[in-house]
Amino acid sequence: MSPLSITRTLPPDATAAALRADVTEGLSRTPKHLPPKWFYDARGSELFDEITTLPEYYPTRAEREILRATADRIAAATGARTLIELGSGSSDKTRHLLRALTGLQTYLPVDVSESALRAAGEALLTEHPGLTVHALVADFQRGLTLPKTPGPRLLAFLGGTIGNLLPAERAAFLDSVHALLSPGDALLLGTDLVKDEATLVAAYDDARGVTAAFNKNVLEVINRELGGDFDPADFDHVARWNAEREWIEMRLRARDDLTVKIPGVDLAVPFAAGEELRTEVSAKFREDGVRSELAASGLKLTEWWTDSAGRFALSLALRL
Ligand code: SAH
Ligand code: TRP
Repeated sequence: MSPLSITRTLPPDATAAALRADVTEGLSRTPKHLPPKWFYDARGSELFDEITTLPEYYPTRAEREILRATADRIAAATGARTLIELGSGSSDKTRHLLRALTGLQTYLPVDVSESALRAAGEALLTEHPGLTVHALVADFQRGLTLPKTPGPRLLAFLGGTIGNLLPAERAAFLDSVHALLSPGDALLLGTDLVKDEATLVAAYDDARGVTAAFNKNVLEVINRELGGDFDPADFDHVARWNAEREWIEMRLRARDDLTVKIPGVDLAVPFAAGEELRTEVSAKFREDGVRSELAASGLKLTEWWTDSAGRFALSLALRL
């Protein structure tokens, strides 16, 4: 077996059916919304990687700082022989874990973006020729089943991606993490923290407009996959802090009255001038909230580390 294997857990037409269902549901109701996983085609994954290098987008740098400083302690605390990573993307920060986890045998990156998995897997194998990399093209919100691999296992969910799930989805997701792990396995969770509004909004509305292009990429995905006639120029990128829910909301706001045709789902979708389509939330956390959400799913927080500026946190939790 080649050390890089890529498995699709869903046939390609299941993905197409899921996109049709999400577009039909999300664009027919008021207010309109779309789930965030559809940002990440090959172009979307590239744009996200560009976001991580922007001066305004601090989370990636902050999380890398923490990982660099704590990877050896994570390795000592977990002794992991399998590293599972959900929403692994470029696996760039994961290098710090792969370096420190000296007993590691298998790396299992899971992502909806096959292009990101392939590029990351090939790069990692040249750096760690002895490692087995088994990439899974899968939706981590849809009943994941993982291949049997040696324990103890460490499951990493980095980048603050957990904040892109709504609270009820988060609870269901953490329950599924508990179900995937065995007693004594561990979860490593990256969460962005509540902070001043200006810093938060700038991270999701950069001066060069890369985040705007990323947000609008979901329209390009609908055009390509479902024959839609969205003109991205008809929409403005909006990033807004919701102080009550403590999350950033990403929206696309129609500049004028317009109707978009989407033949693939047989829809003509009317937008009023100023109407907004919600494409993503990015929740920001506090230590107490993370501890209690983990505890509610049988995961005991054992370590809480932040970067030196206190912007981002990495939690280590034990599966009870
Ligand atoms: N972990 C990386 C990437 C974060 S971006 C980092 O910290 O920089 C979020 C990643 O999750 C993307 O690679 C995206 O393709 C993936 N993703 C988003 N929703 C997903 C889902 N439902 N199932 C699997 N992967 C998903
Ligand atoms: N997990 C990332 C975050 O919430 C995803 C992200 C960053 C994102 N910038 C974005 C999603 C812009 C949509 C639009 O920070």
